[in-house]
Amino acid sequence: MVKVRAENITKIFKTLKALDNVSVTVDHGLFFCLLGPSGSGKTTLMRIIAGLETPTSGSVFFDDEDVTDLSPSERNIAMVFQFPSIYPSLNVYDNIALAIRREVKSKQDERERVRWAASLLRIEEHLNKRHHEIDFGILQRVSIAKAIVRNARVFIFDEPLSNLDTKLRESLRSEFQRIHREVGGTFIYVTHDQLEAMAIADRIGILRDGRLQQVGSPDEIYYHPVNKFVAYFIGSPTINFIDTKLKLVESKLYASVGDSHIELGEAAKFALQSRQDKLENIQLGVRPHDISISTAPVSDSIPCYVNYIESLGTVLLVELKSGSASFKCLCDAGLNVREGMQVYAVFNKEHIHVIDAETEMVII
Ligand SMILES: Nc1ncnc2c1ncn2[C@@H]1O[C@H](COP(=O)(O)OP(=O)(O)OP(=O)(O)O)[C@@H](O)[C@H]1O
Ligand SMILES: [Mg+2]
Repeated sequence: MVKVRAENITKIFKTLKALDNVSVTVDHGLFFCLLGPSGSGKTTLMRIIAGLETPTSGSVFFDDEDVTDLSPSERNIAMVFQFPSIYPSLNVYDNIALAIRREVKSKQDERERVRWAASLLRIEEHLNKRHHEIDFGILQRVSIAKAIVRNARVFIFDEPLSNLDTKLRESLRSEFQRIHREVGGTFIYVTHDQLEAMAIADRIGILRDGRLQQVGSPDEIYYHPVNKFVAYFIGSPTINFIDTKLKLVESKLYASVGDSHIELGEAAKFALQSRQDKLENIQLGVRPHDISISTAPVSDSIPCYVNYIESLGTVLLVELKSGSASFKCLCDAGLNVREGMQVYAVFNKEHIHVIDAETEMVII
């Protein structure tokens, strides 16, 4: 396994800049997810790391070796794509064995490695079957087995689960961490599904329009997004953005929310100290998980009325309104709330983000 380093990668297709000066490092043996919306450049970056595409400028390093001019086979990469790649004329065993025909020392070695990969992907019972005898979910497991059986320096997965139905996707997703642990290689995994990335990655890199927005652990990205895009893209239900005015009164910092206001914590005050002359054009970013509802008035709460209730099973997604501000919160389905009712919203101060609406950067 190697450390992968993409340095100042730019890729221009005719007039389209698919990647704009992207630099990212994936440490040895890490499970790294590259996450971003459709067309953000994920596949292009993977293809450049794999050697299937040449960057317009920039370099790719495996450890300290510059591999920018090496072919995919010289780089020794194993890849899995959205669609299974299986030879229909061969059975599952031979498909997996073919992937290691240059690596194995003996038939015994081949058998052991194929069986190891098959057991990791739970496809032992299908080893003698052919393409037409197995379903799509199993075919994709075979593709993954063909990749992880190899002694590759890097394993690249480009949306391997995106064509599976929800149940199959969930079951394979939950197995990916175990597969990574057993294989012990450097995994780079592309997805546009933030839940998938949050569930399986050690670190996540977020791309938007060919530009890398942030790299961090799932927790860092969730709790400390650097900008509005990352805050919006990560987390479900989606974060609320609330227009606010900040006011410093007797050394306490208040943020308006609709017709009312809340006091912000010391950390926010500290972060905003340097810009006290510029407290306009600010938004609060608050996740629905971080707003709770009280049916009776409590201190530092926002009086609101319930505008809309959506049932998500054991929890309710409730839209609250206070003056011109509206925001959603999650509450227990057992809470007695009805549309039109007056309630009090309590914000979890620890997780309120303050955002510069002009630059879209998160201040805290
Ligand atoms: N060979 C190509 N020629 C021209 N444009 C391309 C080529 N490959 C990709 N693009 C463009 O580059 C941009 C990034 O594409 P890319 O496939 O890397 O995005 P992606 O993040 O993988 O998207 P998706 O989630 O849909 O797979 C898109 O606008 C795409 O149309
Ligand atoms: Mg893609």
